[in-house]
Amino acid sequence: DAGKGEYDHYMLKEIHSQPTALSNAIDGRVVDGEVSFEDLPPGTFADVETVQLVACGTSYHASLFGTHLLRSAGVSADAIRASEYEPVSGPVDERTLVVAVTQSGETADTLDAVRTASDRGARSLAVTNVVGSTAAREADDALYIRAGPEVGVAATKTFSSQAVTLALLSQRLAADLPEATPPADSTAMLEALDDLPNQAESVLAESRASALARELLDARSYFFIGRGLGRSVALEGALKFKEITYEHAEGFASGALKHGPLALVTEESPVFAVYTGGEDGKTTTNATEARSRGAPIVAVGPDDHPLADAADAHLSVPDTHPVWTALLANVQLQLVSYHAAALLDRPIDKPRNLAKSVTVE
Ligand code: G6P
Repeated sequence: DAGKGEYDHYMLKEIHSQPTALSNAIDGRVVDGEVSFEDLPPGTFADVETVQLVACGTSYHASLFGTHLLRSAGVSADAIRASEYEPVSGPVDERTLVVAVTQSGETADTLDAVRTASDRGARSLAVTNVVGSTAAREADDALYIRAGPEVGVAATKTFSSQAVTLALLSQRLAADLPEATPPADSTAMLEALDDLPNQAESVLAESRASALARELLDARSYFFIGRGLGRSVALEGALKFKEITYEHAEGFASGALKHGPLALVTEESPVFAVYTGGEDGKTTTNATEARSRGAPIVAVGPDDHPLADAADAHLSVPDTHPVWTALLANVQLQLVSYHAAALLDRPIDKPRNLAKSVTVE
């Protein structure tokens, strides 16, 4: 298939197109150290009191990422699985901004959640990849992630583009809200963005994920842990792994491991521990607990960290701002899933029972 170019699968092509997708998502959106969106001028969000990100699947994990950043900037925010919107959304009014995070802009549960919120008076914003999609048309405003078409059912580049776009949106919202308290390193975060596409390129060029996937292929279960932003990456890493390998994989908050999942940890359950360099040592402690039960530990994060030394294997991520470290760790995990699925000879671009866009509730 000519569309795959030099790659065996669309998914691999899309993983490798992330440096370009990231450049496109960023292009022209940071001007003189400030986030600037063409159609959302300063003051656009001045009335917003709380933000609800609604999404499904990978987009939900990107929403957790975005919610973490909004809260770090002192903005009240929640990520809600779109299918759960009605039971859990709580009070909603005209000062609620509901953000539909949806690659396709066509996911039925997400559209339904936005319609429910709009009926209650909320203002809506679609963060989507597809211009003219239903979400983009129905929401009050649209913000495009500019990832280009994604064919593989398992979302890859669109997660990265969503994460960057939501990080920028969190800064834009915080700038509009006088009560917001952006973290002291916000400027450093935006400055570090310039290097992100090249850093993604170097992860792709130097990753040891293929060899590691082969080494770990006989396991019974695969666990993914992380804290804060690392948690959203751990959940996404596990989703990707199960979607395309058909192997059992689960993602947990690092601290949740000891409250149940540890009972499942054996020498046949590798644990991928995601860290960003910005957190304290708790993920290291949690990973070490799993290791003492015999589980092989794979550290996924920057080199200069105790977890990289303590682990059985290490997938290295360039040293940058912790927000972008998390995103680069996700690229490493995408490669692990892809190579494991390729070794197992799975139909990577079209996993059984799954659809690229789920248009039924
Ligand atoms: C399906 C796809 C996932 C995707 C999810 C949400 O489950 O298989 O890859 O993350 O839908 O799709 P959306 O288009 O709303 O981001």
